[in-house]
Order: sequence, then C-alpha cells, then structure tokens
Amino acid sequence: MTKQGSSQAGNNLDPWYHHYAERAGGLRASEVRALFAVASRPEVVSLAGGMPYVAALPQDLVINAMESVMRKQGATAMQYGSGQGVPVLREQILEVMALEGIKAHADDVVVTTGSQHALELVSKLFLNPGDVVLSEGPSYVTALVIFRSYQADVEHVPMDDYGLIPEALREHIARLKAAGRNIKFLYTIPSFHNPAGVTLTWERRLEILEICRDNNILVLEDNPYGLLYFDRPAPDAMRSVERDGVVYLGTFSKTLAPGFRVGWALAPHAIREKLVLANEAAVLSPSSFTQLIISEYLSTADWKGQINTFRGVYHERKNAMIAALDEYLPELTWTNPNGGFYVWVTLPEQLDSKAMLPRAVKELVAYTPGTAFFSDGEGRQNMRLSFCYPTPENIRVGIRRLATVIRGELDLLDTFAGTGSLDSHRDNRRFGAPPPDIS
Ligand SMILES: Cc1ncc(COP(=O)(O)O)c(C=O)c1O
Repeated sequence: MTKQGSSQAGNNLDPWYHHYAERAGGLRASEVRALFAVASRPEVVSLAGGMPYVAALPQDLVINAMESVMRKQGATAMQYGSGQGVPVLREQILEVMALEGIKAHADDVVVTTGSQHALELVSKLFLNPGDVVLSEGPSYVTALVIFRSYQADVEHVPMDDYGLIPEALREHIARLKAAGRNIKFLYTIPSFHNPAGVTLTWERRLEILEICRDNNILVLEDNPYGLLYFDRPAPDAMRSVERDGVVYLGTFSKTLAPGFRVGWALAPHAIREKLVLANEAAVLSPSSFTQLIISEYLSTADWKGQINTFRGVYHERKNAMIAALDEYLPELTWTNPNGGFYVWVTLPEQLDSKAMLPRAVKELVAYTPGTAFFSDGEGRQNMRLSFCYPTPENIRVGIRRLATVIRGELDLLDTFAGTGSLDSHRDNRRFGAPPPDIS
C-alpha cells in the first residue's frame, strides 16, 4: 500500500492508515473520552458535559408544534428545502438576535445544522493549512478540533475575569504579523464563555472590534449562551455595532433543545453567499422538519417565558455549585459566571487535573480537565465544572467528592514531596485577579 501524505489518523491496525488525508490527523479523540464513557454511569455525578437540562422544556410544547406542522405543512416538512434555511424561520431568528441588540436582514442569515456546523463551514471557507486562528485561551474544545482539522494553528490570547485582554490581542497580532503569519480570524465567545464562564465587557468588545478592524481580521462571534443570563443581561453582541467584520453564530440548542440541531450564521453579504454554497455542498439543505417545528414553536409558544424558565434552573444550579465550592474547597479559586453553563476552577499549582481524573471517576465524580480547552497543552492546573445538567443536590454531592479527591492528591504529594498543602496554594491565576484597568 502506498503512503499518501503523512496522516496521523488511525493506527497501523487500520488497513487504510496511509490513505487518510492529512487533515484527518486533526480529528483525534480526546484522551479522556474513554473515561467519559465510564463517567456516564448513573452513579457518577458528571460535572463534565455541557448538556442542557431539556427536562425543563415541557414536552407538550414540542408535541403541539410538531403535530401542527405535520397537519398544516407535512409535505413541506418532509421535503428538501432551501440551502439557506426556511425563510420564515430566518425572519424569526432576527427577533431572537434583536434581544442582543442585533439589527439585520433575513437575507444574511444562513440556517445550519447546529452552530457547530456553522463553525465547520466558516473554517472550510477561510482556513488553509498553516493559517492562524486567534482564540481565547482557554476556548471551546470542539471549535479547536475543527480548526485543527483544517490544519490551522490556534494562537491562544489570554483572558481574565473581564474576558479577552485587548492589550494581549494587540501583542499577539503584532508578533504574528512580524513573523509573516496569515491570521484568518479571531474566534471569540464573548458572553458566558465556554469554558471560562466570564463575559467580555462592553468597552472591551468595542476595543477588540477596533483592533480587528485596524488589522483586517474577521471576528467569528460564537454566542450560544448570551440569552441565558442570571442577574443581568450580557452586553449587546459585538455584531450589534459591526456588520462588515463579524460573522455571528447563534443556536437554538441552549434556549430550546440541541436535538433539533438548528443553529445559524449571520454573515456579511459576500460571506453569506459562500456559506450558502458550502451548506448546500455539505447537506443540500438543513432539516426542513426541525426548522418548521422551531418556527411553529416560536410563533405559538411563550418562547421568551421558556428562556426565563431555563435561566431560573441554571441560576439555581450555579448558586448550588458556588456554595458547595465555598463550603468544601474554599482554598481554590474559580470564576463566578453570571450566565451560561460553566465554572472554571484553578487548582493548586502542584496538581494536574488530567492525571487526577481517573481517581475522580473512581470517587464517582467527573469534570473536564483544562487541557481539553487549549491547543498547546496548557490548562493542567484547571478544570471546567458544568452546572447545567445535574440537580443542585447532585452538584453538592459531586463537589464534596471532588474535595475528597483533591485533598487525597495533596496528601499524597505532601507525603512524598512535602508540597501538597492547600494552604500553600498561591494565587498565580488569571481569573479571580483584581480588576484590570479597562478604561
Ligand atoms: C461555544 C459553543 N459553540 C458552539 C456549540 C455548538 O452548539 P450547537 O451545534 O448545538 O448549536 C457549543 C455547544 O456546546 C458551544 O458551547
């Protein structure tokens, strides 16, 4: 068998090992995937996944919408549709985005199979091997997988409690440009970040847009959690003040249910045309069936009230998690999000969240190690805890178990190296730091 390219996909037991395209090498299963299979057992409290709590959505609302679609327009629902998405749904998506300050035209909306697919299509349109994507460090794990599969290099820009740090962005751009690198876009999750839980301030949103405009860098604004705020809304979307330099991604996965697989991109006109062609090439048309159900749901159900219900559920769970961290692990530091699904925890320096995970799963609690959210091996001292799915009681149990694991690890370190005291946990973190000067 001849070797075609230097693919790292698969292994030598796979007879097609040498046939894969190089880009397939970027599609690696996460090292902790096998553990997560164990972690999905019912006795394990999983603080690892990002699954929305869909049980808070009354099933009747969906059943009614489904029935009505099938009775009124069953043939259309079961047919192929437009590669850009159902026109009436694209109009309704404008109403959803208006809640975050966005004014747009339905012509510029492209419905995709979840926002994940929009990420894939944008990457397909823009990324050549060796191009650079700027992203927050840490960043959404499955976006990093896509960028890597297009053989782009991800350059992480640091964040703090107020989101991406503009000054650091300037420095990274200047260094990369001086090295002759081709920066294709900035991928950012400004509101209730996954995994960091922080929200970019309004002032920084404006500053970052200005930096990107000055440097001719497209902004890919990914906003699945923006409407799921707790005490106060996030600042308006970056797209609300910049039309030409931003591709905005939205989804119904978190405000309705991910099973529909309906998301969208709002793009400047020329990019929108290419996105539609790429969408058609990939899937012909997104599902007419689920788009029409969502459209019916939006026009007949109290969808804003339902989002309020979700907010209440997640707020209660976030409070349970923070209270449990305060009680069981007061020496650690963590972000305290005002929306979304995630808390980002910083461990004592001597601990390694990835190495510790098997012991945590043995103690019947799971989390996602910080390394999953960096493309460069960073993040060993961090973990992402999700509060979206487990009940408040289970969250408390999970954190108590986690505390047992962490103390056990530190005891071991103390016994063998004399370094394992929580009291010696020095504050060398980016998050929970004093407010930066954001004037
Ligand atoms: C930041 C971010 N972007 C995109 C997605 C993908 O969402 P979907 O494809 O379900 O719309 C997720 C899902 O968790 C996410 O957290």
